Amino acid sequence: MTTPAAVCWRDNRLELLDQRRLPREVKYLTIRSIADIERAIRTLAVRGAPAIGIAAAYGLVVAMSAESPPDEAPEAFRSRLDGFAARLRRARPTAVNLAWAIERVCRRATAEASLPAIRDEAEAIHREDEAICGAIGRHGAPLITPGAGVLTHCNAGSLAVSTLGTATAPMYLRHRDGMPFRVFVDETRPLLQGARLTAWELSRAGLDVTLICDNMAASLMAAGEIDLVLVGTDRVTRNGDVINKIGTLNLAVLCRHFGIPFYVACPSSTYDAATLRGSDVVIEERGPEEVLGDHAARVPVRNPAFDVTPATLVTAIITEHGIARPPLEAALIGFMGRSAAGSARNGERG
Ligand code: MRU
Repeated sequence: MTTPAAVCWRDNRLELLDQRRLPREVKYLTIRSIADIERAIRTLAVRGAPAIGIAAAYGLVVAMSAESPPDEAPEAFRSRLDGFAARLRRARPTAVNLAWAIERVCRRATAEASLPAIRDEAEAIHREDEAICGAIGRHGAPLITPGAGVLTHCNAGSLAVSTLGTATAPMYLRHRDGMPFRVFVDETRPLLQGARLTAWELSRAGLDVTLICDNMAASLMAAGEIDLVLVGTDRVTRNGDVINKIGTLNLAVLCRHFGIPFYVACPSSTYDAATLRGSDVVIEERGPEEVLGDHAARVPVRNPAFDVTPATLVTAIITEHGIARPPLEAALIGFMGRSAAGSARNGERG
């Protein structure tokens, strides 16, 4: 059974799988305006770094078509687009793919201020992402050996990206080859992307999946059940620091203690060569209601949605160009310097 696509673009119509309803219900939202796409990103109807970027690129096309005046001058076209872009960029601050995809669409409009041109750019971003997932899968698959126990966190699967996902791509390919291995999925408090999304998509695809609470990882590692941890990322900074869903740092620290490899799957659209280190990244702080639910005592809450895993705790980063091993900064620049997200933001040509 295949996972429903997170982002659907057909005949100039943008539909987003409403991930807030999963796994109970598979329902799509139709995006008709800038307000629709902004709300979908902010409220996590669409989520996951690459999927947010793809959705935003198409969202700009929809917003521009919805209010397109006849015979609009190129300058007016660009200034309307810049206004929408600024609005979308603020929707979520941490995943670099959002700013990167918006920047690509705006740069295209600098060369060619027309609806067909920006639509073509959004479609290219989407197609490239699908190819990148396949390449990450091929490079990462050998890291999963027969009988291995793989632990993953949050959702870096098809729902967060396209087709094979990033962290899940090596798993999907190994499964397709008929290799036996187990995947342990962290629940991922507070929004349960692991329990609701990753466990759902991997089990539908027939993988051997076991769900655990976030606080069980150490005891499974101590029992020898985990051979590697494999996660996605929302941004990797120039030096190889990894920003990912809150709780990722816990896993990296545990891996160091237990001598377990800690791998990160990162497409070039998520490598931010323009930001030097993880401490320079804005970490999104979300509302208290996500943590409180209806069971907790009504006390003050902290809810940072992401954390920073220092490069020193990362065994290797799986990119579409190959596996980057320490020293990570040199390896990442070597692989992705010119195609990295930061390059596009700086206006460098890839
Ligand atoms: O807040 P979300 O659900 O958008 O966060 C997504 C993540 O942090 C995922 O873990 C993922 O690894 C990054 S997307 C491939």
